[in-house]
Amino acid sequence: MDLETLKKTVAEGLEEAGAAQTADAVEAVRITYLGRKGLMPQVMKELKTVAPEEKAEVGRLANTFKKELAELLESRREELSGDGKGAAESATFDYTLPGRGPRRGTRHPISAVIEEAVAIFGRMGFTVAEGPDVETPYHNFEALNTPGYHPSMDRQDTFWLDDGKLLRTQTSPVQIRVMESRTPPVRIVTPGRCYRRDTTDATHSANFHQIEGLYVDSQVSLADLKGTLAYFAHEMMGPDVAVRFRPHFFPFTEPSVECDFSCHVCSGSGCRVCKGSGWIEIAGAGMVDPRVFEKVGYDPETTTGYAFGMGIERIAMIRYGIPDIRLLYENDMRFLRQF
Ligand code: DAH
Repeated sequence: MDLETLKKTVAEGLEEAGAAQTADAVEAVRITYLGRKGLMPQVMKELKTVAPEEKAEVGRLANTFKKELAELLESRREELSGDGKGAAESATFDYTLPGRGPRRGTRHPISAVIEEAVAIFGRMGFTVAEGPDVETPYHNFEALNTPGYHPSMDRQDTFWLDDGKLLRTQTSPVQIRVMESRTPPVRIVTPGRCYRRDTTDATHSANFHQIEGLYVDSQVSLADLKGTLAYFAHEMMGPDVAVRFRPHFFPFTEPSVECDFSCHVCSGSGCRVCKGSGWIEIAGAGMVDPRVFEKVGYDPETTTGYAFGMGIERIAMIRYGIPDIRLLYENDMRFLRQF
């Protein structure tokens, strides 16, 4: 193509692109000029047959045209893709309307509960410690006095990895890691992800969060534990929430308790969320078993401590009235914007 013809082609191409009124028309222009079998690839291919004095100019013009046309087509495509910003609408653009500012994000309810829990325990002198999601069976079970025949070690409940490690089923192994690396007194909370082979339903998820607490010193009592969890309950749920402790069993605490909060939704009179009982199970807790102290090299004769672990999702659900745990993971903006 000689320079004269190319100049005409360029003018036509730009005009056709500007005039295209539908996405299909835009695409047709693109195919004609820029497509694999279109005019411009052909011009480039035939460049060697162009008269020597025009060759450089033809090459340069073809290249700028390709770029310009591609940009023009792109902006036409954007203008035409709905959004009320088509050529016709932009002529009647109402500049008196208030602008659309960027939307602020909101904190995820799980993050909000973790941050608040850490702040509440922080006021009682707890600092944050963290541990790995991929754990050794030693830290997740054995050092926590959980023997191999315990149901939680079952293939069905735990995600085992090929190298013999596992995805931690609880935040309790962080207790072990902290005690292995520090001497008493220890006062920590550890928020984090946990993993279990649970079938997902309204209240279960294979991936969930816990916050663990550990206080070790020389004269720690069950009364200290009760006071700590009661303070937490009132700070987190409000002054009217009642707290109760029931005897329970955990391999790593003796004695062990479960801690319930009165149902935040029905104030204890019984509803769907608390399954009619008026109470919601929030935490497992107890006095650290002397065998755990032995494992980490603390003297069980002189060391005392309490530990507790609770589900973050459970707290978020009753605090915000979230009826289904899956809502917390779907990242549906209509849900997230409410917080
Ligand atoms: N790790 C336990 C669970 O996931 C919860 C728990 C119970 C944690 C008692 C503790 C504790 O620290 O002392 O069910």
